[in-house]
Amino acid sequence: MEKDTRLILALDVLDSAEALRISQVVAGHVDAIKVGYPLILATGLGIITELSRYAPIIADFKVADIPNTNRLICEQVFKAGADAVIVQGFTGHDSLRTSVEVARSNNKDIFVVTEMSHPGALDFMQAAGEAIAKMAADEQASGVVAPATRPERVRDIRNIIGSDLTIISPGVGTQGGSAADAIRAGADWVIVGRSIYQSDDPAAVAAKLVSEIKEVI
Ligand code: C5P
Repeated sequence: MEKDTRLILALDVLDSAEALRISQVVAGHVDAIKVGYPLILATGLGIITELSRYAPIIADFKVADIPNTNRLICEQVFKAGADAVIVQGFTGHDSLRTSVEVARSNNKDIFVVTEMSHPGALDFMQAAGEAIAKMAADEQASGVVAPATRPERVRDIRNIIGSDLTIISPGVGTQGGSAADAIRAGADWVIVGRSIYQSDDPAAVAAKLVSEIKEVI
């Protein structure tokens, strides 16, 4: 995934025509498009192949299973044309190691969720976030997912993983986080969904975010 605009579109729409239309207009402003259960369940896995003509695709399945099931899931998603898969970290080192092995043999990436961006992540996930970040570095994942809603946590996680791993950071816009703050705290990319795809002019919103990011790098 090339680091150019540092913006990733989270495409949580439910209609394939809308997904294609939005991707086409924002393609020049984003380095990747993240798709997840909402769009895939509504339209099928084939949407990954269709969208991959606009940008690299990150499949946000937050995979959280035993090693063998993680392997089977990642294999299917890479086969469909995804460039990266997001997995949960709390399932432990063996599940992560298997996912990373599958990614490596396909020349693809795994991103590991450390802690999520919503308030409920404070109930259980945050306590494990730093240990998960360390595990992601030890297992040589490509990067981690850390919350733009809590830039101080992005900074903590950056200190743990060093510079070898990348950070992709959701929570900008609708969830309250700021793109500039997340990048300043050490995120490589910010992930933005509703603020872009629910806007009347998704390309303009994306362009504005990119210029906000460029001001702080
Ligand atoms: O619409 P919004 O910009 O809030 O979208 C954020 C996206 O990032 C959603 O697809 C959400 O599932 C995802 N995400 C998140 N927090 C995480 C991991 C993924 O908000 N830790």
